Amino acid sequence: VSPASRKVVLYAAASLDNFIATADGGVKWLEHPRFALPREDFGYRKFLRSIDTTLMGHTTYRQLLGFGGPFPYAGKANYVFTRSSRRKDTEHVSFISRNIPAFVRALKKKKGKDLWLVGGARINTLLLNHGLIDRIILTVVPLALGSGIPLFAEGAKPAAFRLKKTRLFPNGFVQITWEGRQEV
Ligand SMILES: NC(=O)c1ccc[n+]([C@@H]2O[C@H](COP(=O)([O-])OP(=O)(O)OC[C@H]3O[C@@H](n4cnc5c(N)ncnc54)[C@H](OP(=O)(O)O)[C@@H]3O)[C@@H](O)[C@H]2O)c1
Repeated sequence: VSPASRKVVLYAAASLDNFIATADGGVKWLEHPRFALPREDFGYRKFLRSIDTTLMGHTTYRQLLGFGGPFPYAGKANYVFTRSSRRKDTEHVSFISRNIPAFVRALKKKKGKDLWLVGGARINTLLLNHGLIDRIILTVVPLALGSGIPLFAEGAKPAAFRLKKTRLFPNGFVQITWEGRQEV
């Protein structure tokens, strides 16, 4: 992989009204039995093989820990963004508290696979506003939540992407890939 082709990919799932979690951070609706499809992982394992790094906000990280079980992205380089400079790195994650856009820009210049922007809304917005999201793979779940945490938080600047691909699943999920952010 040439350094220039290393991409930051926002890979996420959202309700049809564009929420990535309920207002209290809940994501159980994503795993509702009505959406289960035998032997279908919606491209997740293939995507995981395409990345060697994860980027996430502290809130998303805390939620992952709250699920219990082993850290899901062991073996990847995992960076958690926080405003606190006191947090100690763990076996699996490094905390980054300053100048996140410059940090991500530097990572992109290194050799490696793509980088997964896991979320959530605030970190997605920060990277969007700095032109650092190269690809979005959004799985739209056919469910309206009415309210919750949006894909991008308040303060997101308009940005246009090109449609690359759509994938339809028999459970009603629609997976949309956009690329190449441009100024609007
Ligand atoms: N559906 C999906 O695919 C999906 C994927 C990912 C996440 N989510 C959901 O997203 C929700 C969390 O989103 P969120 O927007 O509340 O939180 P978030 O973006 O995950 O994390 C926010 C935290 O990041 C740190 N931060 C924010 N801006 C920063 C900056 N400029 N510099 C350094 N650190 C900064 C702060 O941590 P400190 O408070 O430590 O300073 C802040 O509290 C969760 O409920 C999760 O379920 C859903």
